[in-house]
Amino acid sequence: MDKVKKEILISKPEIDDRVQSLADEISRDYEGKDLVLICILKGAFVFMADLIRCLCIPCRVDFVRLASYGTGTVSSGSIMITKDIETPIYGTDVLIVEDIVDTGLTLSFLVDKLKEKGPRSLKVCVLLDKKERRQVPFNAEYVGFDIPDRFVVGYGLDFNEMYRFLPDVYVIQED
Ligand code: IMP
Repeated sequence: MDKVKKEILISKPEIDDRVQSLADEISRDYEGKDLVLICILKGAFVFMADLIRCLCIPCRVDFVRLASYGTGTVSSGSIMITKDIETPIYGTDVLIVEDIVDTGLTLSFLVDKLKEKGPRSLKVCVLLDKKERRQVPFNAEYVGFDIPDRFVVGYGLDFNEMYRFLPDVYVIQED
C-alpha cells in the first residue's frame, strides 16, 4: 500500500488509559461550570470522540477547522480559520481539544482568536506534545503524552490525509 515505514509509539490501550485520566481530571476541574469543548479538525476528532465519552459532567461541543500552508511533515507559519465555531462562547468555559502541539503556532493563533469572543475561561487539552519543537512559547493545561521530535500518525493524525484510521499512534519514517 505504501513505502512508509512505521512503528508503534503509543498503543491503543495506553491511549485509552491516559484519555480516561485526562477526562477524570477535566470532570473534576469543570464540575458546575459551563464547559464547551472545541475540537480542531481534522486531527483531533478521534481524541475528542473518546474524551467526551469518558467525561462525567455535561458539556457542549463545537468544531473549528484551521488551514496552515504546507503539506507533508513541515508546518508553516501562516494560519487561517476555514470553519469557525457556531456556539456563542461568551461567558463560557472553553477547552480546546487538539491532537498535537508542535511549533505552538496553531494553538497560539487559535487561543488569541477565541479570546476575542470573551469566554470566562480558555484552556487547552492536547493528546501529544512535542515540546522540543516550539517556535513560540506555549503550554497546554492538559497533556496526554510528551513525545520526541518524530512525525507521528494514527488515532486521527495523518500524513497527507493517510493513516487517520489507525487505532494506535505510530512513528513514521519517510523514504
Ligand atoms: P503546530 O502549529 O506546529 O503546533 O502544529 C500543529 C499541527 O501540525 C497539528 O494540528 C497537526 O496537524 C500538525 N502536526 C504537527 N506534528 C505532527 C505529527 O507528528 N503528525 C501529524 N501532524 C502533525
